[in-house]
Amino acid sequence: MKKFYTMKDFVDMPEANIYESAEQFQKFINQFRDDKSYPYGFVSGTAVSRNMDVLDYYSGNEVNTVSFVSSNYLGLSQHHKVIKAVKNAVEQYGAGTCAAPPIGGYTNIHKELEKKLARLHGKEDAILYTSGYAANIGVFQNLFNKSDMVLVDMFVHASIYDGLKNNTNTKIYKHNDMNYLELVLNREKGKYRNLVIVTDGVFSQDGDLANLPGICTLAEKYGAMVFVDDAHGVGVMGNLGKGTLDYFGVEDRVEIVTGTLSKALGSAGGYAAGSKKLIDYLRLYSRSNTFSASIAPPAVGGASKALDLFEEEPYIIKGLWENTAYLKKRLSDSGFCIGLSESPIVPLMINDDMKAIYAARKLFERGVYVVPATYPAVKLKNSRLRVNVSAMHTLEDLDYFCDTLEEVDRECDLHLRAN
Ligand SMILES: Cc1ncc(COP(=O)(O)O)c(C=O)c1O
Repeated sequence: MKKFYTMKDFVDMPEANIYESAEQFQKFINQFRDDKSYPYGFVSGTAVSRNMDVLDYYSGNEVNTVSFVSSNYLGLSQHHKVIKAVKNAVEQYGAGTCAAPPIGGYTNIHKELEKKLARLHGKEDAILYTSGYAANIGVFQNLFNKSDMVLVDMFVHASIYDGLKNNTNTKIYKHNDMNYLELVLNREKGKYRNLVIVTDGVFSQDGDLANLPGICTLAEKYGAMVFVDDAHGVGVMGNLGKGTLDYFGVEDRVEIVTGTLSKALGSAGGYAAGSKKLIDYLRLYSRSNTFSASIAPPAVGGASKALDLFEEEPYIIKGLWENTAYLKKRLSDSGFCIGLSESPIVPLMINDDMKAIYAARKLFERGVYVVPATYPAVKLKNSRLRVNVSAMHTLEDLDYFCDTLEEVDRECDLHLRAN
């Protein structure tokens, strides 16, 4: 049988220099040629939205699609009030600040957005970063060192792993497994300067929620601190989109919450919220803040207005949940396996990398744009189509997706359904 390469095959080639590694990697790209199914980096001629005109990587033709690729859960990146706020910000503050926050790149609207984010999470203060990725690097790279022990849920986002890399002591615990976590806490308690538990609020590939009440209770029992990345919770979970901490009522039991402006807030950028003193410390000691120009004003203006809309137009969040319930019901009634998602992230489990990529291609050919999540986003053989629902999808969009999926499953003999 022909070997199917995964990205894991090219992670480390000790004998190859960078050009040889890149040359070897062409095998990964070229293996998709016959099926025309290379799935990454498509170019869109339209906004990243529920409908997208996407260039076919192979034919160069534009394909009109119903799209499920974006985490723009509330569609706010295109909301007319957000666009107006973006225009106002660019007119008043220009396209970029061209300076890092501590040395001048800090405007009224940056400060105002930080205050709003702190309020959202019930924290004293917040600090902006240029992305959610940079926020996790900034927090985890700089608060902890080899005197500390950080316990990490195995399914946290890559940016947390990257922030912790080579920096501190880490132990990875089985996903949401409170017995396992307690075992590790019991073993490690009292040995370190800081004992820390890190989790996502909503897990980005499975859409399930961290057991935050359980985690906080264990943290209190063993003298540990809790850090939560709520990138996918804000705008989605909790009262008026206040996030997963609000949903579980644990804001006061969590030290720092990190997040992004690039999902429900429809913009770009990231942040961390916590006590005033911790945030003061991060302002100068987190290197991804100190040595990087601040977020562009239009992105700040847009995110700030989007945050107001959680309260001003709460029916948008309601619409997101109605769409989510509708899609999940249709998919599970049809026998597709959608895991344990409790959010608008719907993992359509396939558990075979090649099949997931092939299914995505066949859907694309029929005007459905959805990306396969394969290694390194998920473990090998845990591949799935990651379907992101938005408040903007119409019922016709959702029906078109389900009908097309059923058709592809049938016609291409994919056997994606359990029954
Ligand atoms: C859980 C989680 N944290 C952080 C990030 C990074 O956010 P950003 O896209 O703003 O860098 C993501 C993005 O995919 C995410 O899913």
